[in-house]
Amino acid sequence: MIHQISLVCLCLVKMFMFFGDARAKVPAVIVFGDSTVDPGNNNFIKTIVRSNFQPYGRDFPGGKPTGRFCNGRLVPDFFSEAFGLKKTIPAYLDPAYSIEDFATGVSFASAGTGYDNFTSNVGSVIPMWKELEYFKEYEKKLFDFMGKNNAKNMLREALFLTSLGTNDFIENYYINPAGRRAQFTVEEYSNYLIGISESFIREIYNLGARKISLGGLPPIGCLPLIRSINIKGGGACRADCNKLARDFDGKSIALADKLNKELTGIKILFLNVYNPALQVINNPQAYGFESVAVACCGTGTIEMSYLCNRDNPFTCMDANKYVFWDAVHPTEKLYHIVADHLMKTTLAELV
Ligand SMILES: *[C@@H]1O[C@H](CO)[C@@H](O)[C@H](O)[C@H]1NC(C)=O
Repeated sequence: MIHQISLVCLCLVKMFMFFGDARAKVPAVIVFGDSTVDPGNNNFIKTIVRSNFQPYGRDFPGGKPTGRFCNGRLVPDFFSEAFGLKKTIPAYLDPAYSIEDFATGVSFASAGTGYDNFTSNVGSVIPMWKELEYFKEYEKKLFDFMGKNNAKNMLREALFLTSLGTNDFIENYYINPAGRRAQFTVEEYSNYLIGISESFIREIYNLGARKISLGGLPPIGCLPLIRSINIKGGGACRADCNKLARDFDGKSIALADKLNKELTGIKILFLNVYNPALQVINNPQAYGFESVAVACCGTGTIEMSYLCNRDNPFTCMDANKYVFWDAVHPTEKLYHIVADHLMKTTLAELV
């Protein structure tokens, strides 16, 4: 009798665990975007926009320079770990991984890319339309791997994540004024990019995505590169660039609101990275940082990619004292702070 009761209890516990899990869990994190979320896809295409050499990755497990533009892990890696999945998300183009690995998370992101085709052309990196093509190929492989129904169910619960836009403004608008700047006002260009973002979300929705986290822009005006060219402003954050990021975020939020109302079953969560990042930038000591205006790598003012290399004698010893790793990318420590904040706030409902 006792035996039977305990069996029944065990079954109930198991059922509860099963339905409990199925209700809340995110079974995979599927990533699109630029260097903020690229774990190394650019290692496998012809481009000079790379970081698969030291000192990149020196605080990554095994000290491995994977191609992440960071000393360690990126925000999607921390999300994945927080959802109880793997600690790092593999790059789709890395032949070391298979569909079995990608079934619980994959990144199609490419450093240097943007919403705009012009932006990806600058560094010969993967344009967004091509990231989407890779996703379609992945979906087919997933159907073969786990069966179509299981794959569809998985994708419906998976967290899709996009993070891009900074390069559109930096590379294609400010650095190359003959390009988009001659064609569009900032307002028009932002609207153009938001239009591409909207098409992208509609496409992944049609392919089965339901939970989408739409990444916002960082305080672009506070990136060490932008500070170092702000000579008139004495190296302060550039207010106009920060405003541009906030305005663009406002348009992304409006887009999310619109599509959340229109598309049945979709849940677009806007990820505000601007506020938590600026909070740290304005109070670095409160978080144990000693340097915020210059980055760890090299002189900390202009170096990234090949300029940030092991022969550069100025690179800092302890990246945890720095908010930025290279002239445009945060250290792992800032990414970790931002990721923890988002997991506790916007993404808490998915855990
Ligand atoms: C970007 O290029 C692709 C491939 O040529 C094209 O299909 C797409 O329409 C372009 N996107 C925009 C917004 O022009």
